Amino acid sequence: MIKPFKAGITGTGSVLPDKKLTNFQLESIVETSDEWIVKRTGIRERRIIDNGMPLSELAAEASKRAIADAGIAADDIELIVATTITPDYLTPSLACQVQKQIGAKKAAAFDMNAACTGFIYALQISKQFIENGTYKNILIVSAEALSRVTDFNDRKTCVLFGDGAGAVILSRVDDDTGIGPAIIGACGEDGAVLTVPCFFATQEDLSLRSEGKKQVIWMDGSEVFTFASRIMGESTKNVLEDAGLTINDIQYIIPHQANMRILQNAARRLDVPMEKIYTNLEYTGNISSASVPVCLDEAAKKGFLKKGDKLILVAFGGGLTYGAALLTWTK
Ligand code: UT7
Repeated sequence: MIKPFKAGITGTGSVLPDKKLTNFQLESIVETSDEWIVKRTGIRERRIIDNGMPLSELAAEASKRAIADAGIAADDIELIVATTITPDYLTPSLACQVQKQIGAKKAAAFDMNAACTGFIYALQISKQFIENGTYKNILIVSAEALSRVTDFNDRKTCVLFGDGAGAVILSRVDDDTGIGPAIIGACGEDGAVLTVPCFFATQEDLSLRSEGKKQVIWMDGSEVFTFASRIMGESTKNVLEDAGLTINDIQYIIPHQANMRILQNAARRLDVPMEKIYTNLEYTGNISSASVPVCLDEAAKKGFLKKGDKLILVAFGGGLTYGAALLTWTK
């Protein structure tokens, strides 16, 4: 049998918008308190994109940083996969806009939507192209402007979300590092617990939202909470089993950042100390598919990761979707 190539992460980059929205500022928008938000979610502030700024600019900047970090040229990129639920346009895709802004003229480009699990889906799909020898360098960029689909009359959701972008370069590597087993999955039958209508909305969709607004998030938070607390542990265990590893072999879990209590529940179920779970939601909030690559970039830049470290990347989100991957750090 021909040995497949391996796909590793050889560069990372991220950007958070400058503008902060603190819990204290939210106190003057909805009936809430810094105390409630911190206690129930762990979030203190989030970053919000300026009204006049396209999301593609944030995505392109994160991409440029990842390209520089990988030490390649934009011309070396053969595929751009962008993940987002808040693109500036349905067409051209965010990936095509990024291609233009970074000058990656030789790349194919498309968007994909698996909500907060988007980055893990992109990783699982993109690594196939490296493993089967089709491409050598792929840019994955996950960018979200959730403030644009946030209902600032709904205290149950508006305190949770933020904006940001994270990117990675996936390249062929010829050592034992790189992406190992990964799983992606979906429970479409439970999709109604987290929705953002686009061109169509049922009467029920509209009745759930303040002032009959259409393109805003509505969520049954406790249903998502229960799903998330269970699926993070399960997905992580499945990947470890596929890899023939135990949780003790893992240096860090880099999870989707939705709620500190979800992460604490997952840590308990996996029997790992919180020190092994990377968190940044205190100052980012939930930035959907961007959260895992932003965390990965931060962890790398802070010097937390060294070559050969084994990481679990794990996420869940609207759809409902879930996914996890084993990553052995390449750099
Ligand atoms: O990326 C994936 C998407 N999202 C998630 O993963 C979110 C998952 N869910 C959660 O994180 C939590 O369910 C929430 C943070 C959304 C809600 O926390 P909770 O502890 O489950 O609160 P709850 O919905 O059970 O509400 C408890 C109380 C309610 O008041 P009553 O009915 O008991 O009087 C809410 O109205 O807290 C109230 N409440 C608030 N109070 C102050 C809800 N939101 C707020 C708020 N400030 N922002």
